[in-house]
Amino acid sequence: MKETNIPRHVAIIVDGNGRWAKKNGKNRSFGHKTGFERLEEIIVYAIEKGVKVISLYVFSTENFKRNKSEVKYLMDLFCNNFKRLEKKYQKENIKAVFSGREEPLEKRVLDAMRDIEEKTKNNTKGIVNFCLNYGGHAEIVDATKKICMDVCSGKIKIEDIDETLFEQNLYHEFPPVDLLIRTSGEQRLSNFLPWQLSYAELYFPETYFPDFTKEEFDKAIDVFCKRNRRFGGDHNENENS
Ligand code: FPP
Repeated sequence: MKETNIPRHVAIIVDGNGRWAKKNGKNRSFGHKTGFERLEEIIVYAIEKGVKVISLYVFSTENFKRNKSEVKYLMDLFCNNFKRLEKKYQKENIKAVFSGREEPLEKRVLDAMRDIEEKTKNNTKGIVNFCLNYGGHAEIVDATKKICMDVCSGKIKIEDIDETLFEQNLYHEFPPVDLLIRTSGEQRLSNFLPWQLSYAELYFPETYFPDFTKEEFDKAIDVFCKRNRRFGGDHNENENS
């Protein structure tokens, strides 16, 4: 596989922790804990392989509708692990960032997020973008508000608004997503990165996320490499392989 075939930006909808737990006679919390262990492994592996940005849907704005004890378990998992990941990412030269709204996240969660972001901000090998309390429509609304404020204050004119300027006002300005993976067999985007996914290749393995090993990730990259990406252009242009 040529190094140039590695997708620059991979996005993953982490799905199937609950079904994996049920299948293995465990509770949902155990599914999330095991899912997190897998996630930790995949982030480092993907960046080691040459992926520059990996975006992970770890908690959607809609996930707050879940049972209170499950939400608390996930919030504890975030808080407890960001501290540990901070040390690991310093060593691995990985930068951690977050996408999503702050409201209604608790202060302890926001503090843990800000802390890892600050400590890893100068790392250069790759970026992990945790989409936490993230919603794609909310991101577009938030970007629109920022642009309107800049128009109202006279910083920019309406004529200045184009795709580039819009992208600059999203939570982060990253290259477009090349490959989207959603585990567990579900074939939906569920309000994940609607702007950034416009030209992404979509891959929906049946595997529940806690079973999504490095080998499964390699399989996803192989599938991506065989796709013929045309971006609306000619059939033989932009082939991956
Ligand atoms: C979806 O599976 C998974 C989630 C809503 C949570 C994912 C979060 C983690 C793996 C923890 C990440 C931790 C850190 C520190 C980044 P589901 O519960 O919807 O599964 P189901 O559809 O089978 O019920």
